[in-house]
Amino acid sequence: MSTSDRRVLVTGARRGIGKAIADYYTEQGWTVVAPERAELDVGDRTSVHRFFRDFRGPLNAIVNNAGINPISRVEDTSDDDLEATLETNLLGPFRILREGLGALRQSDGPRRVVNVSSIWAGVAKPGRGAYALSKSGLAGLTRTAALEWAGEGILVNSVAPGFTYTELTQNNNTPEALGLIERQIPLGRLAAPAEIASVVYFLGSSMNSYVTGQTLFVDGGFTCQ
Ligand code: NAI
Repeated sequence: MSTSDRRVLVTGARRGIGKAIADYYTEQGWTVVAPERAELDVGDRTSVHRFFRDFRGPLNAIVNNAGINPISRVEDTSDDDLEATLETNLLGPFRILREGLGALRQSDGPRRVVNVSSIWAGVAKPGRGAYALSKSGLAGLTRTAALEWAGEGILVNSVAPGFTYTELTQNNNTPEALGLIERQIPLGRLAAPAEIASVVYFLGSSMNSYVTGQTLFVDGGFTCQ
């Protein structure tokens, strides 16, 4: 099987880390399925169900990348924000694994899943309550799916990026704020999206043959402190 026969589904691939992941797979010769939000709204159970009902497999890999990050302290978080964060970052990936399993099972090449988590699944920062809840939950989903599907050769992992230099990061932070963040990272700089994408590709391709159920922090050493 050549890499051009391999297909990966990447959610939220229009910009940021998701775009870098899609580009990386494309450069490696894979076919990338990158639905618009109108085709697959990760936070909407009906949309997820409809997408996979109409989807024709096989898939060699699924990358759950789409995510949102509303920032507010626990006492200020509305039910709407809490539910939207969980629906998009946690329940959506759960449903995508459940409904995408059939397409993975149809593939006779590699079968891989990568969930995009965050450093806030491992360490805390004020204002990240709902986000941390969602990304921490992904670690449990990752371990459980890894166990349940190991016998079928489906390897399931998470990649937890640290601060990453996307358009959004640049727009949301002043150069001074970015400088402050850089000084908190042992490697002294933010990650380039391609540096997250290459790790996703490693775990989400046949380069990885023995890592499963893990959450790998790609954060320049931030969570070691
Ligand atoms: P972004 O906001 O630039 O891109 C997110 C993508 O997800 C967008 O294309 C958006 O349209 C899509 N999306 C959002 N909600 C959706 C929905 N309901 N259905 C379908 N698509 C939806 O975000 P970024 O920074 O590229 O983040 C990507 C992933 O990486 C997220 O899971 C995020 O939590 C995670 N992450 C990002 C970090 C960063 O520093 N940028 C650090 C750690 C984790």
